[in-house]
Amino acid sequence: MATPRALGHAGAVSVTTEPTSPDDLARALDGTGYLADEGLASAAFLALRMGRPLFCEGEPGTGKTALAQALSESLGLPLVRLQCHEGIDASQALYDWDFPRQLLHLRALEASASASHTELDVDAVESSLYDRRFLLARPVLQALQDAPCVLLVDEVDRADDEFEAFLLEVLAENSVTIPEIGVVKAETPPLVVLTSNRTREVHDALKRRCLYLWLEHPDLARETAILRRRLPDLPEALAEQVAQAVHGLRGLDLLKPPGVAESIDWAQALQLVGARHLDLASATATLGAVLKYREDADRARDKLDALLAS
Ligand SMILES: Nc1ncnc2c1ncn2[C@@H]1O[C@H](COP(=O)(O)OP(=O)(O)O)[C@@H](O)[C@H]1O
Ligand SMILES: [Mg+2]
Repeated sequence: MATPRALGHAGAVSVTTEPTSPDDLARALDGTGYLADEGLASAAFLALRMGRPLFCEGEPGTGKTALAQALSESLGLPLVRLQCHEGIDASQALYDWDFPRQLLHLRALEASASASHTELDVDAVESSLYDRRFLLARPVLQALQDAPCVLLVDEVDRADDEFEAFLLEVLAENSVTIPEIGVVKAETPPLVVLTSNRTREVHDALKRRCLYLWLEHPDLARETAILRRRLPDLPEALAEQVAQAVHGLRGLDLLKPPGVAESIDWAQALQLVGARHLDLASATATLGAVLKYREDADRARDKLDALLAS
């Protein structure tokens, strides 16, 4: 099991209970309900020990976001999450000034000056407005301040090039400069997990800084095991049938192939309608839990018989 950290490693993320091997980390992740294969456990272990960001790429629902959550839980580190979206900029990722509070502060200064018939010192007023108490730490700054922690930069493929360049700079330095305040540097680097659903290629420069992990959908045995871990009351036979059917669906060239989240939803839906087996009737009744496009559902319905027979 994880042992207390004995020796420091240059650049390593500092944790109180440090996994001693990929297997050890896999066991710790398992303890949180996250089932890692060998490649994943090795990549995460190395990211931790080398103090390098882990760049996780894969189809939606392959467990990228859940990995960051499981790492934070199993390592006992707080999770700081930055959800990327189109148009996200540095002020949403790093910090912002609390404008309403600054304004109130200014009004209060003005009121007190006018009550005491004194002149405001403009320079002093201005510098008092850029005090730390008016600083809103957004996730990246928060992670640098809170490190050791896990910083999840989720769905970085949704952000634009400029934002990527900004991230690269922060990740390289583990610090940010706030002109009015100075440099904020993390004492130990956060464990950074970046995820991408690969809606576009992320630049080489960003990848070069990171360790790379491609996440596949789990194989049949692992998906069955995941279903049973997430839904402890699910009978093994039903878990196997769902995993098998979902694997079949993934082979149908659908618009949106089901991820693990959909397998879990499907199995749960089947349980809720009291199905003991996945058959044509129960599959049809619960298909909306696993396929979310009309075209996909139509396509699957045509093949359902064959899928369930295999
Ligand atoms: N290896 C795994 N072990 C346990 N649960 C998993 C695993 N992979 C995926 N899941 C579950 O599948 C769901 C979808 O995973 P998520 O991390 O949201 O996918 P992604 O971020 O890749 O789109 C989550 O509920 C997660 O708990
Ligand atoms: Mg995700």
